[in-house]
Parts: sequence; structure tokens; C-alpha cells
Amino acid sequence: MSESDNLEELGREAIARVADAAKSSELDAIDTQYLGRKGALTLQLRKIGSLVPEQRKGFGQAVNDLKEEIQAAIRARREAIAGGETDARLAGEALDVTMPGRFYQIGRPHILAQTLSRIKDIFIRLGYDIVESPEVESYHYNFEALNYPLDHPAIDEQMSFYVTEDRLLRTHTTAYQHRQMEKRKPPIMVCTMGKCYRVEAVDATHGHTFHQVDCFCVDHGITMADLKGTLYQFAVEMFGPDTNVRFRPDFFPFVEPGAEVAVTCSICAGKGCNVCKGSGWLELAGAGMIHPNVLEGAGIDSEEYTGFAFGFGIERMPMVQHGIDDLRLFLDNDLRFLRQL
Ligand code: DAH
Repeated sequence: MSESDNLEELGREAIARVADAAKSSELDAIDTQYLGRKGALTLQLRKIGSLVPEQRKGFGQAVNDLKEEIQAAIRARREAIAGGETDARLAGEALDVTMPGRFYQIGRPHILAQTLSRIKDIFIRLGYDIVESPEVESYHYNFEALNYPLDHPAIDEQMSFYVTEDRLLRTHTTAYQHRQMEKRKPPIMVCTMGKCYRVEAVDATHGHTFHQVDCFCVDHGITMADLKGTLYQFAVEMFGPDTNVRFRPDFFPFVEPGAEVAVTCSICAGKGCNVCKGSGWLELAGAGMIHPNVLEGAGIDSEEYTGFAFGFGIERMPMVQHGIDDLRLFLDNDLRFLRQL
């Protein structure tokens, strides 16, 4: 076989192997094997010295051409493989944007907290200061300062949770009123909300722990009309523009006159349904003009100032709104219930 046949054979073999290579590491090996320092083509060049002079130039040229040809083939193949490798990598990393997302369970405020924050927003807009007040309250602020007669049944241990002789879990948020009257000077507009406790035989509509909101306002010339306007505004914002408010006389030791406040039933829009027991009204709050004894007890001159107050329970609102028929669900922490609201 002549030197040039030999060279051609070597070239075909190298090009074929380049074409077959599937990985860039295989191309590296081919590169070394043919073009490296001890590679097959490099060894061919060394033969030049043993050729007759007239053959040298042609042979050298042929080896160099072949070298370039193989180099070009390797380069081209390398690019093709790299492209394929990138494609494979991208395919592996690809996102299927049509796949359904993963469901993350995130928390949300408890239904009572949601209701409380709506109420709070409304009273803030009406100009009230929202304040906190202790849940463990003194007999004095819970009853005495609020003009309760000593023989009032609520004072009885059977009705209230006493912690000590003269400390108890507040039975209503109204207990904060006197504390605030002592601290502030008229005009006063404050509101508090939170837990209250009473000894109750627990059932679907009675709980030992429940939530109330209580607001009061003291200034020159405050009248029942201010009370009505405030409760009307609250009812419209809370239950919708077609809500009406009804006042009927009622008794609470700390107000005179006292009233029971009802609002249009939001379920039947006042037509009468089983939630409002056919009356078209839902009882909302107790209210009235602050009793002069309460004002005087806090050092506020009842000849100069008058005030109104009202207070109501919270649980009733989501119960009516969502048709919940058991009060105990609110405090049971059953996620199957809570997640629906
Ligand atoms: N504290 C009363 C209760 O728990 C509700 C109440 C009635 C609050 C009249 C008031 C009020 O502020 O003026 O039943």
C-alpha cells in the first residue's frame, strides 16, 4: 500500500469515527488518537524524512489537509453534540406550565376575628378610639361602678366566674366604661371588644365564653338621637343599605332610659323567616343613655354632660349570616368547620 493510500485509509477511518461519536469526551479521545503529539497523523508527518525529496512536499501537504479536514469534522461534530446535550438538559429541566399547581394550605383569620375587625373598622370610621380592657376584672368595675344593685342576680357566684373574692372574669365588655371615664375628659368616644364569661349550662345557643363589643360617647348635649343615628349608621354599614333599626324600652342598671335594639333581619330582608322567627327583626344590642350615677361616680358632672352607650354580642352575626346553628363550633377549633368561613 502506498503512503498516500495509507493516509486516505487513516482519514476515512478518522472521519467515520468522528461521525459516530455521541459524546464530546469521545471526540477528545479521537482528537488525541489522530492529531495528538503521538497521534496517527502526527506520526505520518514524521515519515517525511524517509521519502524521496520530490514526494515530500505533496505528502506533507496531504497530511496537513487531512489534519484540517479531521479538525473541521471534530469541530462540527462537537457543536452538534453540544447542541444535543443542551437540548437534552433543557428537556430535563423543562416546566410543564399546564400542570395543576400544588395546593398550599394557608391560614386565615378565625371567623370571629373577621367579624371583629369589620366592626372595628366601622367604629374607627365613626371616630371611636378602640381600647383594650382586662378580662380579669374587679367586682367594682364589672358591677358596682355600673350602678348594679347589690342584690342583682348577675353578681351571684352562680352566674359569674370569680377568681378571688372581688375579682372575676368580666361578664360584659361594659366593665371598661368606668375605667375609661376616670382616665379621660369629655368629649369621650371609646369602644372595646373581646371575650366575656358567664356561668352557663353550655348548649347550642349558650356558651360560657363569648365576645362582645361595647361603645360609649360622653359630651355636651348628647341625646338619644345621637345613639339612634350611630346604631343606624353601624347597622347600614354592617348589614347593608336597606337595614332598619328598631328601639324598644329595656332595662340595664347603667343606663336610663335603656333600650333593646333590633335590626332588620338580613336573611329575609324583614319579611319574616325561621331565623328571625317570623318577626323580620333580629335583636342586636342593649343600649341607652348613661345613668347619671355612672357619670358622677367617675367625676363627670351629669348636669353638664350626657352620654349614650351600647353593647352587643358578636357570635350572633356570623351565626345569622352563615346559618350556623351551634355556638360551640366557634371555640372547638375544628378545621373542617373553620376552613369553610
Ligand atoms: N352589657 C350588656 C349585656 O351584656 C349590654 C349593654 C346594654 C351594653 C346597654 C351597654 C348598654 O353599653 O348601654 O347584656
